[in-house]
Parts: sequence; structure tokens; C-alpha cells
Amino acid sequence: MIPPFQYSGTSISDKKGWFNEMTDIETTKDLADTYIFPTYKRALTLVKGEGCRVWDDRGKEYLDFVGGIAVCALGHSSPIVTRALDEQSRQLVHVSNLYYTRPQAELAKLLVENSFADRVFFCNSGAEANEAAIKLARKYSREKAGPGRHTIVCMQGSFHGRTMATLSATGQTKVQAGYDPLVQGFTFVPFDDLEALKSAVDETVCAVMLEPIQGEGGVVVPHPDYLKGVKALCLEKGLLLILDEIQTGMGRTGRLFAHEHFGVKPDIMTLAKALGNGLPIGAMLGTEELGTVFGPGSHASTFGGTPLVTAVSKAVLTSLIKDGRLDHCREMGGYFKDRLENLKKTRGCIKEVRGLGLIVGVELDRPAAPVVEACLEKGFLINAAQEKVLRFVPPLIVGREEIDRLIGALDETVG
Ligand SMILES: Cc1ncc(COP(=O)(O)O)c(C=O)c1O
Repeated sequence: MIPPFQYSGTSISDKKGWFNEMTDIETTKDLADTYIFPTYKRALTLVKGEGCRVWDDRGKEYLDFVGGIAVCALGHSSPIVTRALDEQSRQLVHVSNLYYTRPQAELAKLLVENSFADRVFFCNSGAEANEAAIKLARKYSREKAGPGRHTIVCMQGSFHGRTMATLSATGQTKVQAGYDPLVQGFTFVPFDDLEALKSAVDETVCAVMLEPIQGEGGVVVPHPDYLKGVKALCLEKGLLLILDEIQTGMGRTGRLFAHEHFGVKPDIMTLAKALGNGLPIGAMLGTEELGTVFGPGSHASTFGGTPLVTAVSKAVLTSLIKDGRLDHCREMGGYFKDRLENLKKTRGCIKEVRGLGLIVGVELDRPAAPVVEACLEKGFLINAAQEKVLRFVPPLIVGREEIDRLIGALDETVG
């Protein structure tokens, strides 16, 4: 029997009128903690950023190795972003996707010319890009093979977003807890285990979906041949390969897209995060064969690819490609990892240093949260991906001196 349930309608706010002045007495923390759903555990109030530095509301400076979680590739207050924002906001901010706009079309061209893809769909976030990928894979399969072939094999430890379909495709129970019934049609196998994947493929499977490197899962880098094996299996069985490059794409690993390191091409790829350097934009890219599946009316997004965000994104992508950013990322990533490996020699609690380019993880033999807190005290923003893994995804413009300063802080805090 379903237990009875009564919603009390309790509200703590005593609404005095429809506009109340903000007062200095109310700190940002107080305001947010009173009026915003508490879905985040927030550490402090930030008011300003420049390059790899941010400042809190008391004027304290921090070196930012979180970078909006792999978003601010060109750093905070990048003049490249500011200029594009300024110019485009004077021209045209938003119109419906019922009309063509130049920045959107040009960004699509740039993405296509610099990737495996032929077509782009624009949206606003990573989860939305993955929703589009899931829908495209299902619809393609339905049109090609008829009903019943709709399962997507996903990875344990993966992260694909917080919408109902993307959390159902996410291989972490903590993300799914409380939201059942989940969306059907996803199965899970261990990441970096080709045999497990092979045995999960039956006649209902239409696609395999994975991150080239698991980010939220704890910066897990697969064996160099794993993705090639996945691709070969997809070709053999007629499956679509969907790569979620939302965290690893846009130069993060030292190549524009992480799959380039592994010598494979997906059929569908999703992007978000650094695509707009902080402006909300997501994209799903696919091959020409998939292009006809998404016809007019089959999928849409009101804000997807507005002139404003796509103008910024085009400027960001152009800079990533042309300004030597990828070389710099590879160089700094190598330097950072070398320094962390050196630290590991003297710090027994460091179990492993891993990553590619400037997505770097340090696995500890103990909880990472106290180290994150101690670093914050010392003026460094870092975060944990999984309980015992420190994750570093700084702006790609980070320099040796900034890395050295962080290593110094870790040296003092890691036991
Ligand atoms: C690999 C991956 N996919 C999807 C998402 C979801 O992106 P968003 O938060 O923009 O919806 C994230 C976010 O962390 C991610 O890292």
C-alpha cells in the first residue's frame, strides 16, 4: 500500500511587499541560504575574477584551480570574451531559432571544420547536449532498425548530467537516489573493461555512451587502447559511439578534443563547459548520416545558440585553436604532473597522480575534503571529484609560477 502523504505548505518567508531593498546587513551567504534551494554546499562568496585569480567579498585573493569546473579555459574576465560580448550585445542578443543568425552559423562551421562532425545542434548546458545525443541515437535507431533497439550502454562511475534522462545514463547511484522511476533503456558496465562491454551488447543496444576520461568519476584515464577497442566493437555491431566531451573537450587535455589522443572518431560528441568560457552554451555534434534524423520540429531549444553566446563561443574557440593554447596546456599539464609525482615521493598519502593536459587528479588514501578546506584557507580553490580524489582543472592559461605556488600549499597540507 502507498503510505499517505500530506504536503504542509509551510513557508518561512514573510513577504512584506513585492520589492524590498537589499541591505548591507544581509550578507550574500544569508540571502542565498534563505532564498535559494540548498542544492550546493558553497564555500565562500566570490565577487571578482581576473586570469587565474578570484577575490572574495572580504578582498582575499585565491588562485583558482577549479576554473568554474573546467569552464573558464581562457581565465576570468578574459578580454577575448569581454570584447565579443560587448560587440555582439550591441548588435543582437536573442531571436528565435525560427531565424538564421550569423554567429551561430559561423560557430557551427568552425566546430565542424575542427572536428570529425558535419552537423551541430546548439543548446544551453551539458545535460541538454547529452539529452540531444540520447534522443538522436534513439531516433536514428528507430528509423533504421525499427522499435526495440533503444538501449544505450553507459559506464559505471560516469557522469552525464542532472536531467531525468542524463541522470539515468549516469553510472553513480548517489546522483540517481530519490528520483526513481528512472528513464529506461540504459545499462552499465565497468569503465575501461572492453570484455564487459562486449558481453553487454545484445540485440536491444543501439549505442555506447562514455567520457574519454571520467571527470566527476575521479579523473579516470583509460588504457590507451581502450577507446580503439570500443570503436571497433561499435563498427562491428553497428552501434553509435557517443562521446561526452563536456569536461574533456575544448582543449582541456591539450588537444581540442580528448578522443584525438586515442585515435578514434565518435559518431556523436557533446560539448558544453569551456565552449562559452562561462556563458551558458552546449552543443551536440554528429555525422552527416545522422543529420537527416533531426528534422524541423524533432528537437529544439529556445535559448540554444543565441547570437550572444555563439559570438563569444566563436571567439573562445578561435583563440583555443590559433593562440597556441593547446601547446601551452600540454606543457603546463606535463609540468604540473611532474611536480605532483615529485610530491608523491615524499607524501605517503598520495596513492596516484593521473590525468591528461590540465585535467589532473590526485588520489589520496584518505578523504580529500580536509585538503580542499586547508587549501582554501591558504588562498587556493581546488575541489574533490569522488571522496578521495583531488581534482585540478585550472584555466588553460595557468603558468609555472602559479602551479609552483599550489604545489607549495599542497606540500604543507597533504599529510
Ligand atoms: C562529463 C560531463 N557531462 C555532463 C555534465 C553536465 O553538464 P551541465 O552541468 O552543464 O549540465 C558534466 C558536468 O559536470 C560533465 O562533467
